[in-house]
Amino acid sequence: MKITSLNHQWYFKGGFDDDSINKMIDGQLVDIPHSVHTLPKNYFDETLTQGIFTYQKQFSYQQTKNNRLFLVCYGIMSKAIVYLNGKELMTHVGGYTKFKVELTDNLKENNLLTIKVDSHESKDHPPYGNVVDYLTYGGIYREVELLETPKNTVDHVLIDGDESKLNIRAEIDIKDKVFQCQFDILDGQKIIDTIETTIDTTSITLTHPHQLELWTTNHPKLYQLNVYLDKQLVYQSQFGVRTISVDKDGFYLNNKRIFLRGLNRHQSFPNVGYAMPASAQRKDADILKNELKVNIVRSSHYPPSRHFLNRCDELGLLVFTELPGWQHIGDETWKSYALDDLKSMVIDDYNHPSIVMIGTRINESIDDDDFYQKLQDLVKSIDQTRPTGGVRNFQKSHLLEDIYTMNDFTHRGNNQGLTKKSKVTDTNHPYLVTEHNGHMFPTKSFDNELIRVEQSLRHFKVLDDAYQMKGLMGVIGWCMNDYNTHRAFGSNDHICYHGVLDINRNAKYAASTYASQGNSPYIDVLSMMHIGERPGGEIKSVIIATNCDRVELYKGDQLIGEHYPSKQFKHLPHPPIIIDDFIGNQIENSKMFKPKDAKRIKSIMLYMLKNDLKMRLRDKIIFGYMLLKYKLTYQDAVRLYVEYVGGWGDTNKNYTFKGYINNKLIKSIEKGIDDHYHLLVIPDNQTLYHQNTYDVTRITVEMINNIKERAFYSNQTFTIETKGHIKLIGPSTRTLQGGIESFWIRSLKEGQGTVIIKSDNYSEHTIDITIKS
Ligand code: GAL
Repeated sequence: MKITSLNHQWYFKGGFDDDSINKMIDGQLVDIPHSVHTLPKNYFDETLTQGIFTYQKQFSYQQTKNNRLFLVCYGIMSKAIVYLNGKELMTHVGGYTKFKVELTDNLKENNLLTIKVDSHESKDHPPYGNVVDYLTYGGIYREVELLETPKNTVDHVLIDGDESKLNIRAEIDIKDKVFQCQFDILDGQKIIDTIETTIDTTSITLTHPHQLELWTTNHPKLYQLNVYLDKQLVYQSQFGVRTISVDKDGFYLNNKRIFLRGLNRHQSFPNVGYAMPASAQRKDADILKNELKVNIVRSSHYPPSRHFLNRCDELGLLVFTELPGWQHIGDETWKSYALDDLKSMVIDDYNHPSIVMIGTRINESIDDDDFYQKLQDLVKSIDQTRPTGGVRNFQKSHLLEDIYTMNDFTHRGNNQGLTKKSKVTDTNHPYLVTEHNGHMFPTKSFDNELIRVEQSLRHFKVLDDAYQMKGLMGVIGWCMNDYNTHRAFGSNDHICYHGVLDINRNAKYAASTYASQGNSPYIDVLSMMHIGERPGGEIKSVIIATNCDRVELYKGDQLIGEHYPSKQFKHLPHPPIIIDDFIGNQIENSKMFKPKDAKRIKSIMLYMLKNDLKMRLRDKIIFGYMLLKYKLTYQDAVRLYVEYVGGWGDTNKNYTFKGYINNKLIKSIEKGIDDHYHLLVIPDNQTLYHQNTYDVTRITVEMINNIKERAFYSNQTFTIETKGHIKLIGPSTRTLQGGIESFWIRSLKEGQGTVIIKSDNYSEHTIDITIKS
């Protein structure tokens, strides 16, 4: 078996002529992954990514005698007709599933491969037929390869198991008689077990005792299976062994209950849509697990790239995958394509231990028992190891799946986080909330601070309710990152600002809601501590998203208070700390008043702050008495309020928040004024690998000051220049949004590259990139 990638140097053009299946087209040279149109970040014509397009590739191939050659396409949006040397070989419908086409009988020494791509949003197949809240971006957007196999090969092998047994099912694709089949199990490079069997049918099913380590979220142990037919290698797959079960109380991995805390992810990126290679797909999994500290991701609303799944396997990040669709069920043809999508997804992704649930309903569609029973039966005929769910957006719908999965958008900011399980479904059903928040509170990274804080608080509230709700296995929030969408959705600029990250995967405050629930020390103060951001110039309270057990608050170098996790969110693993007293012991320490009087004055001031400067009658009397007692004028009283509460014009004392875990200082954050800004430029990687296809890295430009506060409202522009063997993706002039902007560069060939970032007001930055092959 031999895999040759076929991603470099395709010819591409709009339209399709029948002649092009026999002769070279006059097109643009492109590499796969490719999007038919590079879009602006927002405000564009969504139809630009729809149409008919031609992709063409010349290749010569020396194949071993009697061997077979297949073309494997991992994702073409959304209809593809494949021609080799003038002959039509196959039509594939469905933009999210892999397909394989045999080339053997039409192969020559020099070959002309032509693929006609139709990316119209055709009503005959999912996810189309009605409006859809995401874009699907035409093109050959996942990789293409040639697979050479011996005459006898396997189509696929399904691997699963429990603590003691390994189950292997192989579908054999034979042209000749086969006598012997061998399965090698490898741990890294080392063969640790071998199973031999003879074959007399087209499939093999065997159960084998094992002593493999189980795959868990903390210890995601992976193995490899190599399959040989008559001593020839025909198949390789990574796998992990683990069991999953669900019941009315929750979700269990290897019989251990895990509360699922997750986010939904769309696989799109700015400018190029879906067309991003392995490293960008893998990075998203890293962000979810290591930055956002979630344990599950829902691949809304389609099967994700295998690169994303491979990384989830390696990281121990659980995945809920589902078939393509959105709120609409079409006619019989449409339904048969949905069945094809589901079958392909279940088989192709079977060996990923990270996938722990399969969504068998079209996201948020109505009950259709006949159709949904077919989808359910289809999954169960292949996969009995994973529970099924089916995401609906209404209560008491018919449950044909194993888990009642529902999007619960109950929370509006001032009410409960979630609807009670008993109102949603039978309390004996396993129950999972698959979306919350999202469109209930769209938030831009450049919104006013209070909006950004409110988004964070809403996620805190739903999570807190979820942790206390009996019989709920978890909640998956909407969503990881902002995404481009159809004109019917979003903020009229083709972006849905529902992410806890922006479209470039940079954190909004709500990201800290999630990040603070992990176990590695974390603290983020969700405020710039500037009165101008708050109505009335009053900072009434500040949220600290943290897993610290205590935060000390300083003004200047004076300690003014110690604060502890909030009782308001007490069910969370790590409730935020909410500070609503910025006076602390300052009045007392000023020694202007006797301690008892200082306390009285403080309590009156805090009441005024919380109640729009109102004073109760008894406060007025006490305050009047204090003025007399300490011989103060009305002006003195106003000055007192301004100094300790209002903070107007107070430019010389910043706040410092010191976070402690078990009395150990983990981080100190200064907030307030600092006018020394600079651009911070951070590449995710400086080494790219130009191998099976090009590689990319994200580079982030952030404007911050010397106390490391982001300049949230800076619209600083900058230009990007590239030299050497790299190329910029998207426009070369950028503007910070929310004080930050990212862009991606791609490799062109092995060697060196340089990225130069220039702006009017700040010094130039140069990033060196090494490209290895
Ligand atoms: C849901 C839908 C998602 C997304 C979300 C926005 O109804 O399933 O795809 O549109 O709303 O909050």
